[in-house]
Amino acid sequence: MDDADRTAGGAPQSIGAQRGELGEARLSEPQAQGFRALNDSLRFDARLWPEDIQASRAHARMLAACGVIDQRERDQLLAGLSQVAEELAAQRFVFRDSDEDIHMAIERRLIELLGALGGKLHTARSRNDQVVTDLALHLRSRCERADELLSGLMASLLERAREQLGVPIPGYTHLQRAQPVYLSHHLLAYFWMFARDRRRFAFARAEVGRLPLGAGALAGVGFAIDRWAVAHELGFERLAPNSIDAVASRDFVLDYLNAAATTATHLSRLGAELVLWCSEEVSFCALPDAWSATSSIMPQKKNPDAAELLRAKAPRIVAHLSALHGVLHALPLAYNKDLQEDKEHLFDSADTLELALVAARQMVAGVSFDRERLSAAAGDPALAATELADLLARRGVPFREAHQAVGRLVREALASGHTLAQIGTAELAAAHPALAEASAEALALLGDPQRWIESKISAGGTARVRVAEQLEQAQAVLDGSDEV
Ligand code: ARG
Repeated sequence: MDDADRTAGGAPQSIGAQRGELGEARLSEPQAQGFRALNDSLRFDARLWPEDIQASRAHARMLAACGVIDQRERDQLLAGLSQVAEELAAQRFVFRDSDEDIHMAIERRLIELLGALGGKLHTARSRNDQVVTDLALHLRSRCERADELLSGLMASLLERAREQLGVPIPGYTHLQRAQPVYLSHHLLAYFWMFARDRRRFAFARAEVGRLPLGAGALAGVGFAIDRWAVAHELGFERLAPNSIDAVASRDFVLDYLNAAATTATHLSRLGAELVLWCSEEVSFCALPDAWSATSSIMPQKKNPDAAELLRAKAPRIVAHLSALHGVLHALPLAYNKDLQEDKEHLFDSADTLELALVAARQMVAGVSFDRERLSAAAGDPALAATELADLLARRGVPFREAHQAVGRLVREALASGHTLAQIGTAELAAAHPALAEASAEALALLGDPQRWIESKISAGGTARVRVAEQLEQAQAVLDGSDEV
């Protein structure tokens, strides 16, 4: 059967049954088409080509430095790799149906270009340590990208928090109005979540710092190679200390996915709040048109599709994390083909997360807040209930008793069609003897929503001075001069 050709990035045109030329001496029957379709990973691992070339260059240089190949061979291998890289970059590389994965495709092409010498590159190396090294390099750059995008999002949140300083908003528990807070305080809550997410990515980045290459298939290699030379060239801080562990383990991918899943979950909460706040019922804010959609049938609609997708992407990434746990679960050492299943979970998670982070940043930067509506909602007299209970507690009434007295007051006010703001001295006095004494103070408190927020002076609280401190701390964390 002829090998149908395809170029870089293109889908296979047909599934052939011929085996590749690379070391298939052991098997006499042609590969079953269904097996090939199941087994081939080129369709998703072709994107690892830059890392594969990079690691191969380091390997070739090291082989020459150690005398395993001579300098002329090294130079020819490096020139061949450069040509392959050019073809791949320009999408001129012609893939064959017999190319099982990107590693085989690159090696096959190198042999086409250099003849038998091309086959020397795989000395003292196995696809098992090759693939995990490529993936480690790839994952490192995805950690760095996540860090960059998270910092950008945090910078936008901080900027909006600074600009909205002094604007109140109802704070919620159980999605019921609870106590007023400053909008800046609410926005900064997300800042801190994302700051912790950055630490999770930093951990994943550190975990990917041990070079697997040199582990061979599983046992190490029978050549006196210099793994440190490769580590230095590729930017690994350490060597994987055990060759079996090096080829069998993918927990560095789990670490990335864990960071990604938690970040995506945080983004989903941000997305959900944007959806809620942009609803006509709530109308606390509006998203820019550029980040809104409309309906195909209802011309009046302005839909927060992007925020909804922020909300919906999280379970997908969490599922990838869970799926990779499933792949690794109970897997005997060392390499098994199951491990090929690491890539799609990683790639889809990273692609999805990066899209979501870009979207979140732009939505945060572009959302416009309706300050009047926010202030009116935050001035809801019901939100003064805790203040009233605190007032009683400050006068020596046990907090539980104060809570009950104010609860009754609210119930009775509601039953007679009033808000807390409309009650008078008589109702206060009836609710608790201490309120009879403090009625003037209580009425003043009820009429001054600003005081409800400003009373929250505890460290990390929503009083303006505390929020101002928080803004400074957030800036320091963003600048790297302080830690979360
Ligand atoms: N495509 C394979 C993977 O992603 C490369 C390693 C193949 N190793 C092997 N022993 N068959 O895992």
